[in-house]
This record gives sequence, C-alpha cells and structure tokens, in this order.
Amino acid sequence: MARSRADCLGLDLRDPLAEQRGAFALPDGVVYLDGNSLGALPKATMPRLRQLVENEWGRGLIGSWNDAGWIDAPRRVGAKVARLIGAADDEVICADSTSVNLFKALAAALRLQHAAAPECDVILSELGNFPTDHYIAQGITEMFGGRYNLLTVPGDEIAYHIDEGTAVLLLTHVNYRTGRMHDIEDLTHRAHLSGALTVWDLSHSAGAVPLDLARARADFAVGCGYKYLNGGPGAPAFVFAARRHLQAMHADRFAQPVAGWFGHRAPFDFSTEYEPAAGIDRFAAGTPSIIALAALECGVDSVLAAGVEPLRAKSLQLMQLFIDLVEQRCAGLGLQLLSPRDPSQRGSQVCYAHDDAWPVMQALVARGVVGDYRAGDAGAPGILRFGFAPLYVRFVDVWDAVEILRDTLAARSWDQPQFQARRVVT
Ligand SMILES: Cc1ncc(COP(=O)(O)O)c(C=O)c1O
Repeated sequence: MARSRADCLGLDLRDPLAEQRGAFALPDGVVYLDGNSLGALPKATMPRLRQLVENEWGRGLIGSWNDAGWIDAPRRVGAKVARLIGAADDEVICADSTSVNLFKALAAALRLQHAAAPECDVILSELGNFPTDHYIAQGITEMFGGRYNLLTVPGDEIAYHIDEGTAVLLLTHVNYRTGRMHDIEDLTHRAHLSGALTVWDLSHSAGAVPLDLARARADFAVGCGYKYLNGGPGAPAFVFAARRHLQAMHADRFAQPVAGWFGHRAPFDFSTEYEPAAGIDRFAAGTPSIIALAALECGVDSVLAAGVEPLRAKSLQLMQLFIDLVEQRCAGLGLQLLSPRDPSQRGSQVCYAHDDAWPVMQALVARGVVGDYRAGDAGAPGILRFGFAPLYVRFVDVWDAVEILRDTLAARSWDQPQFQARRVVT
C-alpha cells in the first residue's frame, strides 16, 4: 500500500471532526486560515436568519420579543458560551462588543477593588496586548482622574509584577500576534494571593482552547463572538462575571458604568431610578441586536456540536503538521517562527516573522491561502498569521498551504506591484 504524506512524517492524522467541515459554507479552492479573525459561515446560519427575518420580524413584528424568545436571547446564547468557557449558565451574557464589555468588566472590577482595598492602584497588563485592551484601560484611568496607573510589562514577566499594589490584572489569554497562551489558573491564583482581581480577554481562545473559568476562580472575562465562535462579522461579544462578584455587586447595589435600561431589574417598569438586575443581566446595556445574536447562536452551536476537547486535539495536530512542514519545505526562505514551539503554550494560531510579510500574505491570498498580516514591533519584521479553526480546516489544507507558501517565497512571486498596496483591513 502506498504510504500517505502523513505517514512519511510519522503522524497519525485521522480526522474525527472531518464531517464538521460540511456544516460550513466555504468557497472552493480556498484554504481558510483566518478563522482566528473572522470565523467561517455555518450553513445553519442562513436558513435561521431567513426564518428570523421573514417570520419572526416580518410576520411576528414586535410580538416576537415575547413569542420568539428574543428577550431571552442574550442570556440563552450566553449560557451556551458558558459551556465553552467553564462557567455557570447564569454567569455569562452576550452583548455589545468586546471593547465595551472590557470597559464594563474592568470598571466593575476596579469598583469592587476600591471597596475592598482602596490603596491598590495598578492595572497590570501585557506589553503588546491587543490595542483595544490598552485603549480601554487608558480611558478608564483617565475617567478615574489618575487614581489608577496602567503598567504594561512583557508577557513572561507578568508573574513578577503582581504585588500588593495591583488592583486588577488585565490580560488576553492568547496573544493576538504570537499565539502565546498564558496560564489562566496560575496567574489568577497569583493575582488573588496579592489581593488583585482578574479580567481575562478570551477573544483568541473561546471555542478553540479548553477553558475552565470556575476552576481557575477567574473574576471577569470577555471575548469576541466573530472569531472561533463563528458568529459573523461584528457578532455580539460575551462577558463573564463570577457569581460571587455578581452577589457582591448586588449587595452593594452598584452596576457596571454602562447602566442602560436592559441592565435594569425591570426594564419595562420604565422607572426613572436605575436599579440593576440581580445577576449577569446587569452587564446588559441597550436593546440587543437580535439578528446578530441569532447568527452568533448558530456559530456557538457549531462549536458545541464538536466539543472543545476534540477541537483542541485536532488544532494541536494541525499546527504541529504546519510547523513541521514549514521547517522542511520552507527552510532558508526567510521565515522565523514567532509562536511558542511548546504546544501547551500556544493557542490555535501559528505566526512567522518575515521581512516582506505584507506582500507575501497578499500573494498567498491571491492563490487562495487566506491568513492575515499584523505589523511587528517597531523596527521588527511584519507577521504572517495563520489561524487553525479545527472545525473546518483539514489536514490537506495544511499541506496545500505550505506548498503554496514555499512556491511564493522561493519564486518571489510576492514581489510584484499589486501585492504592495496597503488596504484598510489587514
Ligand atoms: C484580543 C482581542 N480583544 C478585543 C478585540 C476587539 O473586539 P471588538 O472589536 O469586539 O471590540 C480583538 C479583535 O480582534 C482582539 O483580538
């Protein structure tokens, strides 16, 4: 019997998730390695949105808030996300964007800390965290009139900087440029030992990496709906608050600062006094986007159908195959691996630095291999990012992607004017 290419590498690449790919509408001839930025379209989303628009909105009109369960959608989808991140059903709600949820969660964490330990004044984060996380923290320090300082340190030094001055540890679990993954349990434990609270950004891990927020005793978390959760462009994000904090907030009668009517105890009482809802509902603000939530629900269902553990197992195999093949086939072609080699420290993406990363990625996209580009640190080469969404990325895609990458680099086919032009979205 002929040996397969996988046999030659000594890998056992049977794919228990092979059938899941059929549940996605992917164009022929495209190797989609950008599900860490925008997840693919689940086929189930299309009829669901049609039904929602035609029947629930078109015919049911305003009655659908009650009759079609619209009013429960943020909590219902939140409860599904909770199963992916190791939280209880009533600790997660889907609403707003990740940035807005970060603002709400960070402000709530600081408010709790201020009540418990007013002398703590540092928001500790990682240099090179996703910019919105920095911006939100900067905005909050300004809003509090300088009471808090934002301290950003290299990722591998975080543990040494957690001390009794730390009010909140604000971290993204999986770094967007390198794929490096923090140990949530360890860092949360260290934060708690110093009396700090944690806010985790799970945008690059929810739906791709097993998470157990309950076990880690995480305090607050947020994450995107449009990446590995396949909720569609601009999908609502999620926010998690541990039940113990929701109870403390309730006892103190304080809410998060975007205290809109959907976070009110009884929005349809239309009372002029704000009284926050008892539980995670207080993290809602305005009227939820029902169409977007319906799409997000289909996306989250696609992840639940596969289960996060099998997804992680396949993702690790896909990434190992990619790294091994790039090493074999692209040696001497200017790629430098930026992601950790140790799979336990990596999310679900593999990134390489290259001096001509931008045109190289444009040339790859032109040949149907869709990853993306991120700028490197000042003076450092740009970054080629390849995301491995195991629901629909196949092993054969990895072979094809590496062969096209090799061709592109070896023949310098990226070195053409049409691949130099910058576009708004990278
Ligand atoms: C780590 C991280 N946090 C937050 C965001 C932004 O989320 P949003 O646009 O929903 O505010 C992103 C977007 O890519 C991200 O990668």
